[in-house]
Amino acid sequence: MFTLIKKFNILVVIFFTFQCTKKANLNLNSKELLIFSKLSEYEFVERDFQGKLKFKKSGLKYTLNTALFSDYAQKERIIFLPSGTQIQYNRKKVFDMPIGTVITKTFFMPKNLLKPTENLQKLETRLLIHQPKGWFAVSYIWNQAETEAEIAYGGKVIPLQIINQEGKDIQFNYLVPSRNQCFNCHQAYEGNTQAIVPIGIQAKHLNKEISLGVSQLELWEKKGVLVGFLNFFVPKLPDAFDERYSLEERARAYLDINCSYCHNVKSAGGLNSKLVLTFEETNFQEIGVCKTPGSAGKGGGGLRYDIVPAKAEESILYYRISTTESGAMMPPIGRALVHKEGVKLIQDWINSMPFKNCF
Ligand code: HEC
Ligand code: HEC
Repeated sequence: MFTLIKKFNILVVIFFTFQCTKKANLNLNSKELLIFSKLSEYEFVERDFQGKLKFKKSGLKYTLNTALFSDYAQKERIIFLPSGTQIQYNRKKVFDMPIGTVITKTFFMPKNLLKPTENLQKLETRLLIHQPKGWFAVSYIWNQAETEAEIAYGGKVIPLQIINQEGKDIQFNYLVPSRNQCFNCHQAYEGNTQAIVPIGIQAKHLNKEISLGVSQLELWEKKGVLVGFLNFFVPKLPDAFDERYSLEERARAYLDINCSYCHNVKSAGGLNSKLVLTFEETNFQEIGVCKTPGSAGKGGGGLRYDIVPAKAEESILYYRISTTESGAMMPPIGRALVHKEGVKLIQDWINSMPFKNCF
């Protein structure tokens, strides 16, 4: 896979120069959008015959190859572009989107994890709004009747009770993040400036087959909302839970979407952990193999190395995704539950590595 990328690099560069001639108009609208206290005040929603608030059909619904784990919540993601504008394709980076774009992400909690798509409670809708000065992030909390959602600048803790995979009742505190907490994850470092950026709107996450032989990005291009797309060597991460892919690819894809927006080369310095969990990273020391953590403390769980090959139980990385203890838990925010299936995947991956003594 990685050697393939290298081989094609030159060709891709040539194609890229080509591509630059086709550019999206990203600044048609340079006005500041109003931030409303009620979701119903935005243009992109309407009421159905029962009075429930719904997103308009004009939005661009999308899914990712692998999503972020958020306490088993189901999510619906919709992009609303200003009319007549397009998204600019980029092979390696987050796509550029026009000023005035609104990305919505709505969280639904199933009552029973064995029936994850039934009986869903609508919890919150997170918005990323592209203002002339940059992206603005905030969440709205839904009422039970689903007729309104109110802005939650400071976030909120919602106590929930659900039935888990073993059929047991469990209670936990679901966190609607505050605006500051959005920043913890949606943060990009360009030189010394930090800004809010979208995370999932990248080729590698969006490049997936949505109907036989048609990829999501191809469809976007056909619809006229994606510009500069070249259907040639488009990066693609596997679905972390699709067993047709290798264990390693699946584990690395899981770490990419769940961890790499904090653990990447650009922000790793700032994290003082220097752990790089992007799918593209090829240096196993950076990924954590036989790496001693940059920061000591209870996060280590008394262990010495982030990953000890063949020994998940001795690996800090495995320990930190298996716990909910604050100060040790990874990601440090965004979940109150352990992602059993994710933990199992990482455990199997570490245990499948050929044993190597770290000392
Ligand atoms: C724990 C880290 C984390 C926190 C906290 C967080 N996000 Fe995200 N968010 C993500 C990740 C990772 C994705 C991409 C994966 C996905 O959509 O499942 C994402 C996706 C999104 C998207 C879809 C567009 C995109 O960036 O891919 C929106 C909109 C969004 N988040 C808004 C918010 C808002 C608003 C807040 C604060 C109220 C927030 N997020 C807090 C990690 C986080
Ligand atoms: C919101 C940002 C954020 C996210 C998301 C995040 N981490 Fe971290 N991680 C940190 C910070 C900050 C540190 C350093 C402080 C500490 O050790 O608690 C850290 C440290 C670590 C360490 C110790 C590494 C070292 O060598 O020092 C491990 C292992 C780790 N994270 C694993 C993960 C994994 C696995 C995920 C995804 C499942 C993840 N992290 C997601 C912020 C994050």
